[in-house]
Amino acid sequence: MSEARRAQYLEALGIDVWRARTPARADATERSPVPDVGGARAPDEARTERPVEGRPGVDDQAWQALRLEVQECTKCPLHRTRTQSVLGVGDRRAEWLVVGEAPGAEEDRRGEPFVGRAGQLLDAMLKAIGLARGQNVYIANVLKSRPPGNRDPKPEEVASCLPYLARQIELIRPVLILAVGRVAAQNLLATDLPLGRLRGRVHSFGPLNSPFIVTYHPAYLLRTPADKRRAWEDLKFARNVFRELVARGTRH
Ligand code: URA
Repeated sequence: MSEARRAQYLEALGIDVWRARTPARADATERSPVPDVGGARAPDEARTERPVEGRPGVDDQAWQALRLEVQECTKCPLHRTRTQSVLGVGDRRAEWLVVGEAPGAEEDRRGEPFVGRAGQLLDAMLKAIGLARGQNVYIANVLKSRPPGNRDPKPEEVASCLPYLARQIELIRPVLILAVGRVAAQNLLATDLPLGRLRGRVHSFGPLNSPFIVTYHPAYLLRTPADKRRAWEDLKFARNVFRELVARGTRH
């Protein structure tokens, strides 16, 4: 990817790439908020469209069964208020799995995760690291049904719904899971730690102990654009971890 194109993507995220670098800080662990454009391989080159060796094929029957089960699920009261369940969207052999919180109003209407304004920003975030909805990335939520008024998921709703995400992970076998937002991160990692303490580390999650990284929710970034630079740091971190995992031939 050319420097100009990458600059375009970063601008789409609302990150001013042409601003002067902030002065170097004494804290050596602090990374520059300005995207690096040299050195490391560019996202497009880095994207692995080829399946990792030994990657399983898509089990259409299992996906169909899962979709039906989620469609008909009545394990929690959210089935009474939802228009439809929202299983997920994307490449069923994806190496990246993005997990958000729960469908919102628009997602509930359309049956697809992240289709509103937050979804547009999520797409721009993915594009900045060489990914596109449906190409090597699968997008899902912790909850498959919309909580009324977009309130936070209740623990019992998460407990009812988590087996569906676990099944999705078993079927997709992603190389890396990217959780977007505090609610997804805390529920999946079963912790109360704030998002700031969960970022910048590789956790593991799910039936396969899949590598798991946390960043901000795009809806939060729309409200707090100053944190987009931090989100960009998270995305670069995730991209680097992903490359290492692929280079090591790690498959989960
Ligand atoms: N927010 C989420 O966490 N998920 C969606 O699907 C939409 C908005």
